[in-house]
Amino acid sequence: MPRQKRISETFTRLKQAFHPESLMMTYAYKPEWSEGSLKVPIFQTSTFVFKTAEEGKAFFEIAYGLREKGETESAGLIYSRINNPDLEILEQRLALWDGAEACAVFNTGMAAIATTLMAYVRPGDVVLYSTPLYGGTDHLLKHVLPGFGVTPVSFRASACASADDIERSLAEAKVAGPVSLLIAETPANPTNALVDLAACAEFARRHERAGQRPLVLVDNTFLGPLWQQPLRHGADIVLYSATKYIGGHSDLLAGAALGSQAMLGPVRVLRTFFGTLADPWTGWLLMRSLETLKLRMTSAMKNARYVADFLAGHPKIERVYYLGHLKEGDPQHAVYRRQCEAPGAMVSFDLRGGEPEAFRFLNALRLVKLAVSLGGTESLAEHPYSMTHADVSPEAKRDAGIGDGLIRLSVGIEHPDDTIADLDQALAAV
Ligand SMILES: Cc1ncc(COP(=O)(O)O)c(C=O)c1O
Repeated sequence: MPRQKRISETFTRLKQAFHPESLMMTYAYKPEWSEGSLKVPIFQTSTFVFKTAEEGKAFFEIAYGLREKGETESAGLIYSRINNPDLEILEQRLALWDGAEACAVFNTGMAAIATTLMAYVRPGDVVLYSTPLYGGTDHLLKHVLPGFGVTPVSFRASACASADDIERSLAEAKVAGPVSLLIAETPANPTNALVDLAACAEFARRHERAGQRPLVLVDNTFLGPLWQQPLRHGADIVLYSATKYIGGHSDLLAGAALGSQAMLGPVRVLRTFFGTLADPWTGWLLMRSLETLKLRMTSAMKNARYVADFLAGHPKIERVYYLGHLKEGDPQHAVYRRQCEAPGAMVSFDLRGGEPEAFRFLNALRLVKLAVSLGGTESLAEHPYSMTHADVSPEAKRDAGIGDGLIRLSVGIEHPDDTIADLDQALAAV
């Protein structure tokens, strides 16, 4: 049996036998490839040496899709903008959590989103997107894509209980042109609003014409890959800012797209030509991070419950946005039960008052740091209205429920009593 085939069969057997957390330390790598090194070494090289010119030619033919890979051929290493062992091994490990066939890693979450969108939209297309969503994605959809002849149309995450609701938003927008894709961010940044993925998949099925239908893309940064796996709920491509929980230590920037080999093909090609692949050192750091992914996400998720309960009972707080507090009978609760496994560690809340109160609170924090980003080991708090969502129009912010008293909190792995004590003393300063 050819070497490449033997290796991939060994890995397939491992994948079937063990849970992802058991495979994060070893999967897709053999120490014998690297002098017995237990850990994957950092392949800090820009380029790779071909054994012969014929081999180089064959590697390019396969990498550029000029011909299909033969039964005994492997996709050879060429140049670190195209592929690199650290990124390839990382991609195979990351794919295990979402049950994805393929994964493409990027140098930021925005690179993953932008490259994937550009691989699938064409001038004249309509793109549907849920609101609210991360300010950077919002900017890309509203201010960059129109320059390429693409029309963005929004639908409200929390007002989307069925495919009919998405249809209605599309009809109200009175736009012409085929819908090439729908992008949902769920839970949404910063309000934790959920988008019903079954409704998105149903909408895409209804719009199938001549074997073509809109693709369903899901930004799974807030809950994934542990607490929500959108590919199992009808999504075609899952997107991540791996800067957040996947990286988990607030020390790197990265992104990822996951789906079938066929779906990721055009994305990989564009990644090569946009130059948006992550670098080997980032790939190595992410493999380090994946070893503790479940531990970190579980600890933060448990802490967030205590924090959210404390906030919900505080007189200076008007409303808490936390998935674990959704009530039976609320349509959002039904969506949560269908597609989420746990409430995660993102908690937002409206302080009574507005910006002055929010700023007094943020300026008084001592343990929790005042910074954007999320999903790291440390707790972070920020003011979405004037920071991450500064670029979103006041009307769109109002429609999405982003007020000027809203605080977004990413709960970390500190002792929850300490986090709560810090929040309590900062609330006293409001
Ligand atoms: C939900 C979500 N998606 C995407 C991004 C963009 O990721 P990055 O900053 O890694 O480019 C962010 C960043 O905050 C985010 O919160």
